[in-house]
Amino acid sequence: MRAHDNPYTPNAGARPPALVGRDAELVAFEVLLDRMRAGHTEQSMLITGLRGVGKTVLLGAFEERAQARDWVTVDAEITKSSDFGLRMAQLVRRALLRIAPSARWRDRAERAARVLKSFQMTFEPEGKINLGINVDAIEGFADSGDLGEDLTDVLLALGEAALEHGTGVLFLFDEVQFLNSVEFEALIAALHKTVQRQLPIILTGAGLPQLPRLAGDAKSYAERLFRFPAIGRLPHEEAAQALVTPAERLDVAYEPDAVEAIVQYTQGYPYFLQEYGKLVWDSSPRSPITSGDVADAREAVEAKLDGSFFRVRAERTTELELRYMRAMAELGADAQPAKEVAALMGRTSEQLGPTRSRLIEKGLLYTPGHGLAAFTVPQFDRYMRRAHTL
Ligand SMILES: Nc1ncnc2c1ncn2[C@@H]1O[C@H](COP(=O)(O)OP(=O)(O)O)[C@@H](O)[C@H]1O
Ligand SMILES: [Mg+2]
Repeated sequence: MRAHDNPYTPNAGARPPALVGRDAELVAFEVLLDRMRAGHTEQSMLITGLRGVGKTVLLGAFEERAQARDWVTVDAEITKSSDFGLRMAQLVRRALLRIAPSARWRDRAERAARVLKSFQMTFEPEGKINLGINVDAIEGFADSGDLGEDLTDVLLALGEAALEHGTGVLFLFDEVQFLNSVEFEALIAALHKTVQRQLPIILTGAGLPQLPRLAGDAKSYAERLFRFPAIGRLPHEEAAQALVTPAERLDVAYEPDAVEAIVQYTQGYPYFLQEYGKLVWDSSPRSPITSGDVADAREAVEAKLDGSFFRVRAERTTELELRYMRAMAELGADAQPAKEVAALMGRTSEQLGPTRSRLIEKGLLYTPGHGLAAFTVPQFDRYMRRAHTL
């Protein structure tokens, strides 16, 4: 088929031609927006899931829906090394200027700018970035030096500004697992207050499955503020749709066996479906795409997945970390007890504890339960087995 028309989207965060299987989350999000705007309270969502299941795409769909309802949206991808105070200052500045340009600010927005100025002076005293908001700091607000308290002042002021201007602010944070617990707890403390005051501020986010554990001491608050819906592979019917619908629109069909073979191989993981769809489209001579075409494309698909998805992750590890993951892979796709992985390597789990922790920190493993570790990348066990010897 003509590569020009290829409808598939095997790229991180790329909106798929058919966004299937996420209706429940989308409806819940619309309910959340409308309830918050009406001054009701409602738990927000932090979406969890493995890599490549569509978390970033779902956040994008949330953002669109919020914008369609005239919410102000600001999004950010959290990174491990980011200076969180500075980052929040930039995001709040962006939100404030989207609520209204400074020339049209009313009292509350003006005040929010002054609180933000205090916050900036507290957490970024060298003034490396110019917030570009020409106001004086307001004494006694956002200047305690305690991130949670000061962020609370800022978000309360922002929420009041939004309310005054008849809008709401939605923060969308991707890769939330990279927040440290001080940062996460500060956010929770601040949001807890904005919810109590019924202000139209929502934080929604996405991250790896270990996310709910991050909350630490703030756990009970976090559970009141958020639900943690897990998204994953698509059920059979939806996985088939994700393949067939985009092609159908371009008058290209699949034979049922061909669909079956791709769904089997990909196990319904969205990213793998897009990658297989893309390659089989390019290599198939004509419609309908047959199971023979699917079999022929298989090697190219595996090479592409190895080269663009799996290898980059394996490359960010030390020799010992790699061996740890290879041993895990030997034991299978499921979560593995630290003890058994260590035994396979001829060591104790105490000796390998630091290795395992670093792999979790790097976002390659997560712990679904005490003493267990699992890969954050689907089918990583298969990759490790074909690419590395034990
Ligand atoms: N609901 C869906 N149906 C079909 N494909 C999807 C869906 N959600 C995401 N995708 C595709 O899956 C891939 C991974 O999506 P992404 O949002 O980057 O995943 P994550 O953020 O969980 O790693 C992208 O190629 C995207 O086009
Ligand atoms: Mg993502």
